[in-house]
Amino acid sequence: MEDLIKILGFAGSLRKASYNRAALRAAVKLVPQGAQLETFGLDNIPLYNGDHEPELPQEVRAFKAAIKAADAILIVTPEYNNSVPGVLKNALDWASRPYEDNAWDGKTVGVMGASIGLLGTARAQYHLRQILVSLNMFPVNRPEVMIARAGEKFDSDGNLKDQVTTQKIRELLEALIEWTKTLQKTKPVLAEL
Ligand code: FNR
Repeated sequence: MEDLIKILGFAGSLRKASYNRAALRAAVKLVPQGAQLETFGLDNIPLYNGDHEPELPQEVRAFKAAIKAADAILIVTPEYNNSVPGVLKNALDWASRPYEDNAWDGKTVGVMGASIGLLGTARAQYHLRQILVSLNMFPVNRPEVMIARAGEKFDSDGNLKDQVTTQKIRELLEALIEWTKTLQKTKPVLAEL
């Protein structure tokens, strides 16, 4: 039997009725066999403060441990003023510290996002991809899952009701798993070089 691919997913919104949190819940239900998707809420991550790097806050330590235990990461981002929300950037920054213990290092990552606008977080996702490269992460290129007019895609209980979006999320998870397996195979080869 092949090893289980462990994915850690989180959303960059703290709102109870968040479309991005709803999209993450949808992804949990769609994860293919051979993989598991656990989620982490960013609600209790404090604002970054370099004074606390020598002894990281407990919630940041828990977040970093969850990232390190995962083979792959799934980020669900809202778009705020054409970029990623501070909540998400703050969490990305914390887990990258201290410099010599960047929890993101070498992780594969899938990106998706939901917005009430027409562009479905496209601009936030491209900013996010730039950040991910700086963290030495390996983003999946395709498919891009940009959930536009999110109010029409989820029901009032936050269940995803749009079939096209459902299929796109399924494809993203499959691509993330394949990409993760591919990089896992190449790691020993690269180490030899
Ligand atoms: C927004 N929103 C938004 N939407 C968008 O498509 N492009 C944008 O640049 C912005 N900018 C923006 C800034 C701020 C400060 C807020 C609060 C909101 C709207 C956004 O898509 C909407 O609030 C979503 O519902 C946020 O995601 P969650 O919380 O539903 O996951």
